Amino acid sequence: MCGIVGIVGKSAVAPQLVDALKRLEYRGYDSAGVATLNNGKLERRRAEGKLVNLESRLQDSPLEGTIGIGHTRWATHGAPTEQNAHPHFTQGVAVVHNGIIENFASLRDELKEAGAQFSSQTDTEVVAHLVSSYLAKGATPKEAAQQTLARLEGAYALAILFENHDNMIIGARHGPPLAVGHGDGEMYLGSDSIALAPFTDDVTYLEDGDWAVVTHDGVEVFDSAGNKVDRARQTSQGAAMVADKGNYKHFMLKEIHEQPEVISRTISHYVDFATETFKPISEGIDFAKLDRLAVSACGTAYYAGLIGKYWIERYARLPVEIDVASEFRYREMPLNGNMAAFFISQSGETADTLACLRYCKQSGVQIGAIVNVPESTIARESDIVFPTLAGIEVGVASTKAFTCQLAVLASIAIAAGRARCTVTDAEEKELVRALVSLERLSSDTLGSGEAKIEALSRDLAKYKNVLYLGRGTNFPLALEGALKLKEISYIHAEGYAAGELKHGPIALIDEDMPVIVIAPFDGLYEKTMSNMQEVAARGGQIILITDEKGAEHVSIDTMSTIVMPEVPEFISPIIYSLPIQLLAYHTAVFMGTDVDQPRNLAKSVTVE
Ligand code: G6P
Repeated sequence: MCGIVGIVGKSAVAPQLVDALKRLEYRGYDSAGVATLNNGKLERRRAEGKLVNLESRLQDSPLEGTIGIGHTRWATHGAPTEQNAHPHFTQGVAVVHNGIIENFASLRDELKEAGAQFSSQTDTEVVAHLVSSYLAKGATPKEAAQQTLARLEGAYALAILFENHDNMIIGARHGPPLAVGHGDGEMYLGSDSIALAPFTDDVTYLEDGDWAVVTHDGVEVFDSAGNKVDRARQTSQGAAMVADKGNYKHFMLKEIHEQPEVISRTISHYVDFATETFKPISEGIDFAKLDRLAVSACGTAYYAGLIGKYWIERYARLPVEIDVASEFRYREMPLNGNMAAFFISQSGETADTLACLRYCKQSGVQIGAIVNVPESTIARESDIVFPTLAGIEVGVASTKAFTCQLAVLASIAIAAGRARCTVTDAEEKELVRALVSLERLSSDTLGSGEAKIEALSRDLAKYKNVLYLGRGTNFPLALEGALKLKEISYIHAEGYAAGELKHGPIALIDEDMPVIVIAPFDGLYEKTMSNMQEVAARGGQIILITDEKGAEHVSIDTMSTIVMPEVPEFISPIIYSLPIQLLAYHTAVFMGTDVDQPRNLAKSVTVE
């Protein structure tokens, strides 16, 4: 999703702006641009595609100036062309924007009628024109910004640069995040603290509705009513989150291999290894008093929530309703004081998830957040935060954040079960032991199976469609497997509950349709085997992911069988995520796609 930076600096800022934009690349983008003030005049360079294109543009035609703004654009309104790339210029004004201006069409009509000439298809350009129109009527930059913000509906983080004002950037936040960085005689703006990490770890997060005047001397923050407000400065963790690929070819592969360590780190936050009990993680939420839990998330985080539902209902006997956030926020679910609402998000900034959180909060529902970015908006607005300690995840396709979300949900299920007396002391110890074994088992799985999966991926890359099947917690895993494959390899893939096969997808089965069956040797194995027989009978190619016992019992020929270590049923979705991720990763590598930044996708989706 779009990324914003701004620098009120002491030396030439264009290289620093590009450096900061590079740290926002992980969010996903399809064009980029920077603008500076050179002797009071606005100048910009923009380019389609990756930042290397912008860099070569800047090399051919450098930008002077010690103040500037920059942007990576993930197209919403208008194609990812140079013309639509930010910064947008109008009379005396440059604007970069993350979000969607929902009333842009009516504003554009109004501005056109007043004589404004539009040069892009973006919603953002109306912001620049509005600011210019107020300046033309005699407003100061501050007044023009404030008057403009009052006209905007929708979601935005903005940075505005004004001709002839070489000591001021105005930033504003309504929805997507915006951080102000404090330096030594320099000040910064950024979509997150990771962008600002090379410059400072001293940041102020703007709150929703805030706007800020950033100068060399510091920042003045105002709320939406124009009152000057104090917003705390804090030391960000962004610097620690600056990531590199190490010896790995892609961030995704590195993040897959980090899982034994980060899952274990996450578990240790919730579990007392010495006593084999859960730490009191649920302070503030009395699970015993709840009559239901609403869970909401998007994408991979939603699939983690689906698996969490199986666990929480099974171990804590607590009914869980789960929705994708874009549906939850509009379906008018009845809410009450005896429920809690949990939101799962790697970034903690996903617009739909955040909107659901706010909707529930307004109704007085207790809010829990399972988030990976502790400084994120979702974390800050929740009553209780359950951190996933996955560290920064750069690959757009979520891997380690997903398994850490699962580790947290598993912990919550058991902690809730203890509070509701549905899990005994002995069961708690056994389940804790299972969680503790995750590090070893995930490390064994990654160590032993990858070469075979890589070889199999070469075959999988030849197909155009793939089905994933699973039962129980392996059903959401089938959904996640299909998502992982389609998002990075662009092979069409669908996940189904194995029992649903005969209600539709079986019509698609032929020799050109590999079917990936996730079936550890558990209580549902035999049922899934029957579904596998149905596939085999129709000439479908089966890739079976199972354990040794499952492999011994299989009675049909498979295209390939991936044999996993034997794992306790409770934690099997976490361990079985690993071959699913590796299969998608290696297939994408064979397809030659941009694994870490797949086309059209964004890491942090800050628009609806
Ligand atoms: C995007 C990402 C997915 C992610 C989803 C939810 O679509 O590409 O990988 O699962 O957003 O993001 P969140 O940060 O809320 O977990």
